[in-house]
Amino acid sequence: MKWHVFSGCFFSVLIMIVLMSLVVPRPADAAKKRLPPHEYGTTLMDNFSKQNQMDPVVFRHWIHRSKHTCRLCHVDIGFSMEAGQTLVREKDNRAGEFCGVCHNGKEAFACEEKSLVGKDIKNCERCHTAIAIGHDDRIADAFDEVTEKLPEGRFGNRIDWALASRKGLVNPKDFIEGVSFDRAKMTHEQGDVSLDAKLTGLPDIIFSHKEHAVWNSCDLCHPEVYALKAGQTKHSMQDIFAGKSCGACHGKVAFPLKDCGRCHSKPVY
Ligand code: HEC
Ligand code: HEC
Ligand code: HEC
Ligand code: HEC
Ligand code: HEC
Ligand code: HEC
Repeated sequence: MKWHVFSGCFFSVLIMIVLMSLVVPRPADAAKKRLPPHEYGTTLMDNFSKQNQMDPVVFRHWIHRSKHTCRLCHVDIGFSMEAGQTLVREKDNRAGEFCGVCHNGKEAFACEEKSLVGKDIKNCERCHTAIAIGHDDRIADAFDEVTEKLPEGRFGNRIDWALASRKGLVNPKDFIEGVSFDRAKMTHEQGDVSLDAKLTGLPDIIFSHKEHAVWNSCDLCHPEVYALKAGQTKHSMQDIFAGKSCGACHGKVAFPLKDCGRCHSKPVY
């Protein structure tokens, strides 16, 4: 390795270490940090449940994103990307909206089903659960079964979802008849955008449209989060830690922000 390359590398690594010690995580991040990998990206929904004598609803991203794209739920079905913002009622689910788009006994278990011998089964507790997040052993087991086959990641779910999709190990469905509206499939023509980290020695960021196309559609990011012209959007690391820009997904569902080097990956010399 040439000396200037080596010293460049060394310098960036040093800067990253210093910066990591300076970046103070939000209290919410600290609380999430204690959760096991199978509860990274888990959301509790309780706008109406407790007040109607039901346990809150637990929604886990890992199982869902392994089968369906972000776009399908957050654009076509219309779930908010901010916890607690979607007003879901039980009657909506039963009418085939929100969770009921899939939890109808066809794509996934329904609220109530008939067993093979015609007995009524109520699945209320599979969604409305009294077990605190992180303490449900059945989920931990189910998760282990899935992760066994997927490439390991460092943080969050400890799954490298991007690699898993490149290898074809997960193939999330992007369309459900009667719910999804036809749209041009996201093409890869937009290519990579290089974002300047604005600090000498700190690796710049390569934003890959191709990687993001697997899970998201243009309208999840444009024009609300990002202008359609490179360099027009102002985003600082502080904004990102506060849940804006890349932080709208990274740190909540996509890999967490402490994985600095996965975004700051473009050599700057
Ligand atoms: C099966 C449907 C479904 C899929 C697939 C899905 N989500 Fe969600 N997502 C939800 C629901 C439901 C909520 C909770 C909404 C609420 O509380 O109002 C949610 C919440 C979120 C939140 C807010 C979480 C928080 O703690 O603030 C983010 C961010 C998010 N999703 C991102 C994603 C990303 C990124 C993907 C793809 C990798 C994805 N979602 C895939 C249904 C889905
Ligand atoms: C697929 C998941 C799922 C299943 C199964 C399910 N629910 Fe729900 N239910 C929800 C969600 C999501 C909400 C809205 C959560 C919130 O914000 O409080 C909800 C809300 C409720 C509410 C609050 C009042 C209202 O009008 O919405 C009641 C009561 C309720 N469910 C009863 C039941 C009963 C009884 C069963 C079993 C027969 C059941 N649910 C099965 C997901 C489910
Ligand atoms: C786009 C389709 C889709 C939507 C929308 C969806 N689910 Fe699911 N869900 C699935 C599939 C597929 C599975 C796995 C198969 C099964 O268990 O039947 C699953 C499994 C689950 C499980 C069992 C695994 C676990 O974490 O315990 C729960 C609970 C659950 N979903 C809750 C919800 C709730 C609550 C909502 C609405 C807020 C919702 N789902 C919306 C497709 C969906
Ligand atoms: C996950 C978020 C995300 C998604 C999804 C996404 N983009 Fe982007 N896009 C970005 C970011 C970030 C930039 C860079 C913004 C900047 O530099 O200020 C960008 C930049 C662009 C640019 C400007 C490029 C340039 O060189 O000037 C175009 C055009 C664009 N996107 C089109 C699209 C289209 C079309 C789609 C869907 C097919 C799409 N994007 C999907 C995040 C996204
Ligand atoms: C999800 C991707 C992502 C991750 C993970 C990430 N960054 Fe950033 N970082 C960015 C983006 C985007 C910018 C803004 C670039 C621009 O202004 O165009 C940025 C900018 C910065 C800057 C420049 C000054 C500022 O505040 O904007 C510093 C310093 C920085 N990041 C440090 C870190 C450190 C330390 C970590 C790990 C704890 C980290 N980053 C993790 C995407 C990321
Ligand atoms: C709408 C949600 C969303 C937004 C906004 C978003 N990402 Fe992502 N990103 C994802 C998802 C989903 C993945 C798949 C990997 C995962 O979930 O951990 C991903 C993967 C990545 C990867 C990994 C690619 C690989 O090959 O390993 C990088 C790097 C990345 N994002 C950087 C960024 C940067 C930088 C920004 C902001 C400019 C950003 N992302 C904004 C959802 C998002």
